Amino acid sequence: MYLGLDIGTSGVKAMLVAEDFATVAVAHAPLTVSRPHAGWSEQNPGDWITACEAAIADLARKQGDAMARLQGIGLSGHMHGATLLDGSDRPLRPCILWNDSRSAEECAVLEARADFRRIGGNIVMAGFTAPKLLWVARHEPEIFERTAKVLLPKDFVRLWLTGEHVAERSDASGTLWLDVAQRRWSDALLNATGLTQAQMPALVEGTDISGSLRTELAERWGVARVPVAGGAGDNAATACGMGAIQPGTGFLSLGTSGVLFATTDRFRPNTDDAVHAFCHAVPDTWHQMGVFLAATDALTWLCEITGRPVPELVGLLPETVTQPSAVGFLPYLSGERTPHNDPGASGAFWNVRRDTGLPELVHGVMDGVALAFADCATALRAAGTDIDVAYVVGGGARSEQWLSILAAATGITLLRPEAGDFGAAFGAAKLAAASVSGDVSGGIFAGPAIRSEVVPDTNLAAGYAEKYKAYRAAYRQIRPLV
Ligand code: XUL
Repeated sequence: MYLGLDIGTSGVKAMLVAEDFATVAVAHAPLTVSRPHAGWSEQNPGDWITACEAAIADLARKQGDAMARLQGIGLSGHMHGATLLDGSDRPLRPCILWNDSRSAEECAVLEARADFRRIGGNIVMAGFTAPKLLWVARHEPEIFERTAKVLLPKDFVRLWLTGEHVAERSDASGTLWLDVAQRRWSDALLNATGLTQAQMPALVEGTDISGSLRTELAERWGVARVPVAGGAGDNAATACGMGAIQPGTGFLSLGTSGVLFATTDRFRPNTDDAVHAFCHAVPDTWHQMGVFLAATDALTWLCEITGRPVPELVGLLPETVTQPSAVGFLPYLSGERTPHNDPGASGAFWNVRRDTGLPELVHGVMDGVALAFADCATALRAAGTDIDVAYVVGGGARSEQWLSILAAATGITLLRPEAGDFGAAFGAAKLAAASVSGDVSGGIFAGPAIRSEVVPDTNLAAGYAEKYKAYRAAYRQIRPLV
């Protein structure tokens, strides 16, 4: 048995899988995000532990006998969060999350101090960890002074599980302190942020063992002191779950944020289009991502302001979509990363008329999200990665209409896995198995069986190619008005 633990933004998911990776049990425990000021997004690290405890207790209730045969634990979590600890490993403040945009000013300061783009492979973006630390240094200097260690969210959970300060390289890439080509901490990038390697955790690969479960927890859960694998940031963990670890493979995640992920055989940055170039969770492998912050979150927003649940809104679309909505929409509700890198960008509707109804608005929102994916595909292509086929995951992938819109807008054939859960928790469980067996050759990471393929429809694709031109122009023209 292997346990995958995913620290998601809206909750912890614990997944127990057997040696053949069949799901044995799944448990969830919710988490909330606090937004004390505009653009802020925080969570209390202690809440992750409480949620992990609750989810694991639930698993033990459901499958106590299976839990007792546990062989390893793997971790995944939302990336980029700044968890600041004092010398006794106590959090000094709430964790500043991946979708927090307060550190926009600090980004330019860091870029002027060191070559983050060449070494770190990425533009310094407000969501990443490094500018958050500079924000703390400027606005909460007494906390910065007391910071003994900076951990990513899942690595704080690891500290609780094992007592060790360890990070792995896929998630560590998102701090912006990693020399991504060399897969090690960069003194130049740390020093530019006023930090040293002493404040960083040790680095391992996602498939390495990072420590063993503490005796106290092992006794409480009735399991052995099993190994805890390095694990991965949530996107690399999802890739491991989908079997996307060979160069040329990838996935499209239609979740809260939108992610187009491609595995690469080497470090391939494209900072001009705000592509993320990170280490993968398996050795000698890297990946690129296009990321935007509001994908299904844009539809959730429309649900909130119309007071209707998601299925009701999605149900307003025709069964078969034959053309794009006349309504245009920019989904930049929380700012934007790929391709504009603009934390100040905002959402917008256009071509709204007296007879426009809610169905057209819903369709417009789904189109806007699909065109944001088209932007990510264009950015990855400019970085040398042609992605024609990709697995599709995330809550939005349940909508047939959204999938046909996405395939047409991006030109990517989407592979829908058989029913099952191949997300980050599943990938984390696979990384646990790889760390225990030492097999990182790919056998463990076989992809799921495919339920169906969504091939881009030629006529629909022509419609979206036209709408994409308007979408690109809209950002350029609306941005100066804000
Ligand atoms: C990736 C990113 C998001 C978070 C969300 O760069 O910021 O995908 O990891 O979980």
